[in-house]
Amino acid sequence: MSFVEYGEYIQEGDIAIVFLGRESMFPVKAQHGTQTQTKYGVIRHSSDLIGKRFGSKVNCSKGGWVYVLHPTPELWTQNLPHRTQILYSTDISMITMMLELKPGSVVCESGTGSGSLSHAIIRTIAPTGHLYTVEFHEQRAEKAAEEFREHKVAHLATVKNQDVCKEGFGVVGVADAVFLDIPSPWEAIGHAKAALKEEGKVATCS
Ligand SMILES: C[S@@+](CC[C@H](N)C(=O)[O-])C[C@H]1O[C@@H](n2cnc3c(N)ncnc32)[C@H](O)[C@@H]1O
Repeated sequence: MSFVEYGEYIQEGDIAIVFLGRESMFPVKAQHGTQTQTKYGVIRHSSDLIGKRFGSKVNCSKGGWVYVLHPTPELWTQNLPHRTQILYSTDISMITMMLELKPGSVVCESGTGSGSLSHAIIRTIAPTGHLYTVEFHEQRAEKAAEEFREHKVAHLATVKNQDVCKEGFGVVGVADAVFLDIPSPWEAIGHAKAALKEEGKVATCS
């Protein structure tokens, strides 16, 4: 499993979305010997998750059941640990369309925040594109890099821990698109221009 490639069966270390209902779901990391509590009872990872097909209905110890879903950027947006305000899928769709992102696109983004937009960008630009994402809050930058590794998309993203308004994106003339989700995007416009290719596009929100 990775966030950009479908895996049929849940393996040790994979993320699965435990789906109890549209208003009730959460991510788990499948690990042998681990148990997860739900209101329908316990899920035992060794017998109930690992080796099961993504999408399976899994019986819990109290007689109820849940679905275990393959992660997607949309499900991740609904379930990720919030470190910041995030962008949701409706706005992400508009951003993706307006920036004309596609497989192979090179994208610069700041700030990384909770990585909601980043995961969607990465899925869109895979397998040959690249995301350069800049976040000046050290723990947020580290957490995003850790999640990209865990979700097996780290080869598609570079996380930089720096102030985009002062130091920019660390790349010049390579980006097809720049997206700024920071309080004062105008302060980074010069750096956005430097990162972009001649025909590149920029969008902001604040
Ligand atoms: C609203 S959050 C971004 C949310 C992100 N788009 C998402 O969907 O998860 C804004 C982030 O920008 C970061 N930030 C603000 N100003 C910045 C700057 N000058 N350079 C780098 N990061 C910055 C903040 O630390 C915060 O994590």
